[in-house]
Amino acid sequence: MERLRFAVIGCGGRGSGVAEMIAAVTNAQLVAVCDVVEQNARAVGERLGVPFFTKTEAMYEAVDVDAVFIATPVEHHFALAKEAVLKGKHVILEKIMTTTAQEAYELAELARQKKICGALSYQLRFYDVYRKWWAVGQSLEPTLIISSRHPGIMPPNYLRPDPWAGVVDFLSHDIDLVYWVAGREPSLVTAIGYRSTVVVQDTWDTMTILLDFGSMTGLVYSAMAGGGLPSTHAVIGRKGNVRIESDSLSVHRFVRTNADRYERQWERLDTEPVKEDTTGLLVQHFSDWVQGIVKDPFPLSTFEDGYKVMLIHDGIAESLKARQTISLEHIHQRIALSQGG
Ligand SMILES: NC(=O)c1ccc[n+]([C@@H]2O[C@H](COP(=O)([O-])OP(=O)(O)OC[C@H]3O[C@@H](n4cnc5c(N)ncnc54)[C@H](O)[C@@H]3O)[C@@H](O)[C@H]2O)c1
Repeated sequence: MERLRFAVIGCGGRGSGVAEMIAAVTNAQLVAVCDVVEQNARAVGERLGVPFFTKTEAMYEAVDVDAVFIATPVEHHFALAKEAVLKGKHVILEKIMTTTAQEAYELAELARQKKICGALSYQLRFYDVYRKWWAVGQSLEPTLIISSRHPGIMPPNYLRPDPWAGVVDFLSHDIDLVYWVAGREPSLVTAIGYRSTVVVQDTWDTMTILLDFGSMTGLVYSAMAGGGLPSTHAVIGRKGNVRIESDSLSVHRFVRTNADRYERQWERLDTEPVKEDTTGLLVQHFSDWVQGIVKDPFPLSTFEDGYKVMLIHDGIAESLKARQTISLEHIHQRIALSQGG
């Protein structure tokens, strides 16, 4: 088996860690890095012994690259991913996929036409505990899916006024998790958020999002001032509930014992503790998918999944602006019409 030749674009906080993880994966190899700030590119390139560039065109000219991992700030994702797809490169894109669902739609369409594998770096899907949570949650026939984490005060580069910045950027993982467990996209989104409750910068730092799936609800919430509070990942379903507790799952099942009696049965399911970031596992799986070694991208978030999550992000931005519930079907129709789809 050939090792997939990866370049990392964007060598900041996230990209430098990703480059190291790719270098450690067995079915991929790091062949180049690129960052518009030369010292960032140089630092990672020299540390990992690969050529570094400040321009993607120069990198594509000089190095044979099969795939790119894009870890720049979100406003550059669309242009860099589009360039890569047009050059026939497979793409892993950091969250948030793009600044708008329209860009995500265009990117997913382009990748489909060019037969390019595109995925999002939603690496929580690769923790054993989240995989088992997904499986048990689905088996319980969900009516309410809750995903909540609190980042504490985020680094200054995230404290921006844009609709995708602040705690919304952090919550993108949780939105994806709820979408993943639900197995389909919601029809309605309602978001209630506050800016600058704890930080002085003008940014969303407190956010609650309700996703209406018709017969089930998603609840996603986060606050920078909630740093230190425990995360909550729970599914309540028609057959019981499951909650993540550290590296294990606490499961309560309601079993009907006779006509009008139910017995609650409890079990703890242990999962494989994974202490380090699972992005290496994500890259490994992506490389197998690109090379046809696995046919099913699951549990990867593909560009099609990323577009569905971006629809939710657009819905959140519209809901916060209008202080109303937003129909995602309307947003999708608008985009599909504008793209001639
Ligand atoms: N999946 C995760 O858990 C996770 C964690 C952290 C960050 N992220 C995501 O990773 C991305 C980067 O975040 P970060 O914290 O590393 O930001 P950062 O600001 O620390 O790093 C971004 C880097 O990209 C470079 N850059 C900017 N424009 C570029 C361009 N056009 N071409 C090449 N390089 C360019 C910058 O010079 C900088 O070095 C964001 O989308 C963020 O949401 C994801």
